[in-house]
Amino acid sequence: MTKAPIGSNRSGRKLGQKVKKGKLKASSRRWLERHINDPYVQRAQLEGYRARAAFKLLEIDEKHKILAGAKRIIDLGAAPGSWSQIAAKVTHSTDADPRVAAIDFLEMDPIPGVRFLQLDFLDPEAPEKLKEAIGGAPDIVMSDMAAPTTGHRQTDHLRTMHLCEVAAHFAVDVLAEGGHFLAKTFQGGTERDLLGMLKQNFRQVVHVKPASSRAESVEMFLLAKGFKGRRAVGESTEENAAE
Ligand SMILES: C[S@@+](CC[C@H](N)C(=O)[O-])C[C@H]1O[C@@H](n2cnc3c(N)ncnc32)[C@H](O)[C@@H]1O
Repeated sequence: MTKAPIGSNRSGRKLGQKVKKGKLKASSRRWLERHINDPYVQRAQLEGYRARAAFKLLEIDEKHKILAGAKRIIDLGAAPGSWSQIAAKVTHSTDADPRVAAIDFLEMDPIPGVRFLQLDFLDPEAPEKLKEAIGGAPDIVMSDMAAPTTGHRQTDHLRTMHLCEVAAHFAVDVLAEGGHFLAKTFQGGTERDLLGMLKQNFRQVVHVKPASSRAESVEMFLLAKGFKGRRAVGESTEENAAE
């Protein structure tokens, strides 16, 4: 079970540590203090995950049961790699029989069983390259992509929403029937058209805010479960048109 870490220091490091005033700007010092005192950061180190983001996926899975039985997974915006670590584990992926494809424009240290593409997901070649790398229809397309911040909140918001939308269309293009799509989004940010498209293609669409997603952050996750399949949606549209 994914337990929310409490204020103790299972990693042996004390919480509530202060960073000495020095060369750092006040904002950087506040960030560093928050980071080193974050129980999820400490727990990630203890459990061998590359990022605290691991617990977001594990918590979502605990409630919505998306990972069990997945044979192939595509991870969008994968670096530094904690979601890919989980994906490789649940799919029993190995370098000899890789079942996880991951993409990020940043570098990522290799993970056994993960085929990594260092590429912008918005590059026109990215979808084909990911399909080639995964070698079969994935059961999960997951995206933790967030656009690099520009300092202009609305611009950042729109860019991340755009990534979410492109990821959703990619998911509908590649997923195996019954598969799931999970993507980072923002509170109140999911476009009505995107929600409509997902509801048409998936059996269930929900927004999730895991406890490990910082309360002050507007980050949320959009989960679309049970892909109806490309043919099924085409057929139901034809049926509707005939009515
Ligand atoms: C929150 S981090 C992902 C953390 C990751 N889920 C983990 O568990 O380690 C978001 C990532 O999305 C990547 N990203 C943002 N926009 C992207 C794009 N257009 N193409 C590829 N990667 C992108 C960033 O470089 C960043 O590494």
